[in-house]
Amino acid sequence: MLVHRGRHPEENHGIVNPPVYHASTVTFPSVAAYEASGKKPFDGVHYGRTGTPTTFALEEAVTALHGGYRTVSMPSGLAAIANTMFALLKTGDHALLADNVYGPTRFRVADPLLARAGVECTFFDPLKGIGGLVRPQTKVVYLEAPGSLTFEMLDVRKTAAEAKAAGATVVMDNTWASPLYFRPLEHGVDVVIEAGTKYIGGHADVMLGTVTVASPELHQSIKWTTNAMGSCAGPDDCYLGLRGLRTLSVRLERHQKNALALARWLQKRPEVDRVLHPALPEDPGHALWKRDFDGASGLFGVVLKEKYSKPAVDALLNGMKLFGLGDSWGGYESLLIPTYPGKIRT
Ligand SMILES: Cc1ncc(COP(=O)(O)O)c(C=O)c1O
Repeated sequence: MLVHRGRHPEENHGIVNPPVYHASTVTFPSVAAYEASGKKPFDGVHYGRTGTPTTFALEEAVTALHGGYRTVSMPSGLAAIANTMFALLKTGDHALLADNVYGPTRFRVADPLLARAGVECTFFDPLKGIGGLVRPQTKVVYLEAPGSLTFEMLDVRKTAAEAKAAGATVVMDNTWASPLYFRPLEHGVDVVIEAGTKYIGGHADVMLGTVTVASPELHQSIKWTTNAMGSCAGPDDCYLGLRGLRTLSVRLERHQKNALALARWLQKRPEVDRVLHPALPEDPGHALWKRDFDGASGLFGVVLKEKYSKPAVDALLNGMKLFGLGDSWGGYESLLIPTYPGKIRT
């Protein structure tokens, strides 16, 4: 699938990869054709913002990998999160989000943006689940597994079943695993978000997001909002995302192997209190990871012993020679950053 989906050489002079269409205007041969296209702008090529064959090629491939209905490409992972939430929530609604979601999902999208729009967000303990927190107004349950920075696993299947029984739409940020190692739609999730900036792009040179949905209604809603927000992924970025997919399995295999070797080495270091990595048998989330996931990616956490002060940790990071210090992950180069998740948790 990684090799074949999203490209059609037979429609393109036999050329292996799809062309990159740079487009704003799309012209039509008649008023009738123009008006017909305007009635169904998401079903074909209508205007640059709603997508071109390059956009659709990436979307076709990601949809196939997730086993979804359709995918909407986005200009970044955060755009994918924000557009999805604004599509699914309105004033008076309530959303439940796992306490360990990606920071900006919480302190940029949930609060202040959703709060300003009159949507209330409650953060739940991923280890305890959503039991008792669902209200009649709960329209979205938002998951991430393992969670950002602290890497706790949650029971996706159980949480999704409970959320859906209560009539909520289940959204999951699946960036850590990528569609190769976890396919949330197979576990009851309705909408799956990937920050394509990470493993799908894979080379630290692209900002990209995707939202894959389980039904035509969800596609219509999320695509409509994305278009209304003026969010569209650039053609070169979609091309890079699609190209990244071709090597995703070999890259992820190596990410997994190297990260686990490093995690096991760190476990033995006297400076280290705990290594946070669900693929380690000692990790509290290991059983869930093993039950549901087909592999582990390369991002994990290390808790140092409490005696190390901030200046000591800063000195360690400032002295790095091979690891870079900066945001993001999923590229071919190694990164290490200090994190203080306690500040952004309930
Ligand atoms: C888990 C997760 N989701 C989403 C994002 C946002 O992606 P982007 O940086 O493309 O906006 C990130 C970025 O670090 C992330 O780590």
